[in-house]
Amino acid sequence: MKVIYPGSFDPITYGHLDVLERATNMFDKVLITIAVNTRKNSVFTPEERSELIHESISGEPWFHKVEIHQFSGLLVDFAQKNNIKTLIRGVRQFSDYEYEFRMALMNRKLNKDIDTLFLMPREELTFVSGSLVREIACWKGDLSPFVPVNVAKALMDKFS
Ligand code: PNS
Repeated sequence: MKVIYPGSFDPITYGHLDVLERATNMFDKVLITIAVNTRKNSVFTPEERSELIHESISGEPWFHKVEIHQFSGLLVDFAQKNNIKTLIRGVRQFSDYEYEFRMALMNRKLNKDIDTLFLMPREELTFVSGSLVREIACWKGDLSPFVPVNVAKALMDKFS
């Protein structure tokens, strides 16, 4: 069975990677799918985000189960085009739930066959988010607990 793991991934963090690995343990194929055009002021281009994901996971034993995609438009349309009915989303804390429930129900309203499966990353990663990581990079903080080395380097280059 194939699933989609969508997000901005601007950039990918250890939290995303934890969720991605969990998904590969459950499904045959996981399409990690970068949303293009959702946030106008993203730090990395979609191509850079794809490259960072590729570099971060290419050494993993589950790499062969992952495909890296980009999409613009509605996620449900991308899912339908690829004949996939299940979306994976990571939830970290209660504050994520309201937004995630709304999005899951909206996606199912748009296409009744689409379901969203929520996975929780390891608890020590629950506070990691793309926005906090970008802020730490902006102030030249230590990124090593939150993102892989290649991502930390790319962030430092962007904010230098
Ligand atoms: O990592 P993010 O920013 O929380 O991911 C949000 C994302 C990209 C999954 C969401 O914004 C999305 O699916 N955007 C595509 C447009 C769409 O289908 N919107 C309807 C959702 S109700």
